[in-house]
Amino acid sequence: MAAKPEMSILFVCLGNICRSPLAEGVAAAALARNGLAGRVALDSAGTGGWHVGSPPDPRSVAVATRHGIDITAQAARRLTADDFERFDLLLGMDASNVAALRAAAPPGDDARVHLFLDYALGRPHDVPDPYFGGADGFGAVYRTIQEASEALAVRLAARLESPPSSGQASSTM
Ligand code: 4NP
Repeated sequence: MAAKPEMSILFVCLGNICRSPLAEGVAAAALARNGLAGRVALDSAGTGGWHVGSPPDPRSVAVATRHGIDITAQAARRLTADDFERFDLLLGMDASNVAALRAAAPPGDDARVHLFLDYALGRPHDVPDPYFGGADGFGAVYRTIQEASEALAVRLAARLESPPSSGQASSTM
């Protein structure tokens, strides 16, 4: 039987059909490449509910497929209050996602909420919303998410090899 994951990450965007499902799939591949398959549970959600139950946007599916990643089994869901208990890290794709996450977090409990590119790369930049743009926007989003996912996986691999000593807060990872 597979070991229980040691940590969990929720990727969050607005609709949960373009950026965060792609991040979930790309991060899973990056974690596997860095020896962390099965050790980190991944999921994604949207702060808005328009697309609940829908598969990822075909443009996200296409760019993922071109890179050997299958995200077709995902279905959009909306962020829930439970997510703040279930996930160690909640990574928003852009500043408005992070603001929505912070507003929805239990009072005083938003230390696990971060901007994805800031957390992964130390760059306080958005993954821009590609929904209303063309297919090339999805290529750029893929490349950004891929770079950040690789950095995230390297960071988590180091962390899971040498966990902080007991007593040290782990909520901000
Ligand atoms: P996502 O993109 O947040 O990356 O999934 C969007 C998807 C749908 C909408 C906006 C952004 N929408 O307005 O329906």
